[in-house]
Amino acid sequence: VGASPSLRQPGLQAAPRSLPVDDGLLHFPSGFLWGAATSAYQIEGAAAEGGRTPSIWDTFCATPGKVHHGDTGSIAVDHYHRFREDVALMRDLGLTAYRFSISWPRVQPTGHGPAVERGFDFYRRLVDALLEAGITPVATLYHWDLPQELEDSGGWPVRDTAERFGDYAALAAEALGDRVTCWTTLNEPWCSAFLGYGSGVHAPGRTDPADALRAAHHLNLGHGRAAAAIRAAVPDARLSVSLNLHQVRPLTDSAADAEAVRRIDAVGNRIFTGPMLHGRYDEDLLADTAHLVDWDELVRPGDLAAAHAPLDSVGINYYTPAWVSADGASTSTTHGTGGGSPWPGSESVAFHQPEGPASSMGWPIDATGLFDLLSRVHEERPDLPLLITENGMACEDYPNPEGEVRDPERVGYLHDHLAAVHRAISSGIDVRGYFQWSLLDNFEWAYGYAKRFGMVYVDFATQRRTLKSSAHWYGEAARKGAIPR
Ligand code: NOJ
Repeated sequence: VGASPSLRQPGLQAAPRSLPVDDGLLHFPSGFLWGAATSAYQIEGAAAEGGRTPSIWDTFCATPGKVHHGDTGSIAVDHYHRFREDVALMRDLGLTAYRFSISWPRVQPTGHGPAVERGFDFYRRLVDALLEAGITPVATLYHWDLPQELEDSGGWPVRDTAERFGDYAALAAEALGDRVTCWTTLNEPWCSAFLGYGSGVHAPGRTDPADALRAAHHLNLGHGRAAAAIRAAVPDARLSVSLNLHQVRPLTDSAADAEAVRRIDAVGNRIFTGPMLHGRYDEDLLADTAHLVDWDELVRPGDLAAAHAPLDSVGINYYTPAWVSADGASTSTTHGTGGGSPWPGSESVAFHQPEGPASSMGWPIDATGLFDLLSRVHEERPDLPLLITENGMACEDYPNPEGEVRDPERVGYLHDHLAAVHRAISSGIDVRGYFQWSLLDNFEWAYGYAKRFGMVYVDFATQRRTLKSSAHWYGEAARKGAIPR
């Protein structure tokens, strides 16, 4: 059943307006999206229902020693069965947008062939519930759950996976394009390529630097194929991609540390922003990695033009900056852990942990990094609106004897990062929305259920949801369209 036109959300069409007078609050433009984000494998569960088959994350979780405590996403937070309750929570808080991902193995289990309509029915029900609640759906096509069969045929290091992704995008656009306007192709392709095939801390857990680079190129190509498929099927689509750009800072002002920044910026950022935003790979990136892959063979005619598909916005996922030096021992594992290196060609660069506050992931807290990133992407592509498609903090959350979950640190984090977004908007950067990671406590990949990012606390034994104080704070911000100064 198609959604009625009156329920369709305009998505990203509202242009920012000037900010109102001083009343002690930082006001955001009207139409600014106040959102929350999740992903399929991290929340849905129902891993074997409705025809879904394993993804690389099911396989990875079943491999001893890969995920903390042997945790898996098989049940997760049972969102597949509780999505109405979760949508009602967002509606009651006053959120205006929700970013979720479609599980590829739920809707096209082998990565080939026709859609499993039962799989898409779940997303139709979810989207209809969102639209009825007045919440703009933002659908991400790929949040890391590659059908296992495609990995068995070579995964992202082989070119065919990009073509398969394009076909899957066409199925998704066909199935949901009557009710979803806002689409994101890939979530954090850096993690898919370099944690999945480089360091091996993410599924499929391979540690080959050349394969990591091949995966990066095929993710760029897949992004282009998916963008074209969505444009073809959804004429009014608002298209985006979510990148975890690294805000890289030199440890000292030495020339060697500046060179370390350049290297990490190349393989951490420009390897995706180059093709997607400018239609090119920078020469320095190609030179740094030329001993690992033959780029002339890897990149075929037309690939860069395909990856350079027109976008309506760029999604930025930001948590923490990175401090790097040319050499020395790393004191931070935030940006480089595992059996292999996630930095092909730049393995000697060291990462440093500054003094000061950090989240329970150990990630330093620094909201200026978000402002700097927004400024950088805006400078590169001033024509493109920006979205914060993820930002948030893991805390040691637990219910107190009264059953409340108080998370003042997260409130402080959200405040400071939203204030950085406000500063960006005030300085002329067109930021259209903010999606807090995450709506719910969930399966934090290799950390299992040990890290809680939600604004809603989940008791994993009973699946009971409890709003944390940050949810109340964020809901008030969404309803007012403003945060305290
Ligand atoms: C990035 C990812 O997109 C998301 O899946 C993850 O849970 C958060 N950041 C926190 O690590």
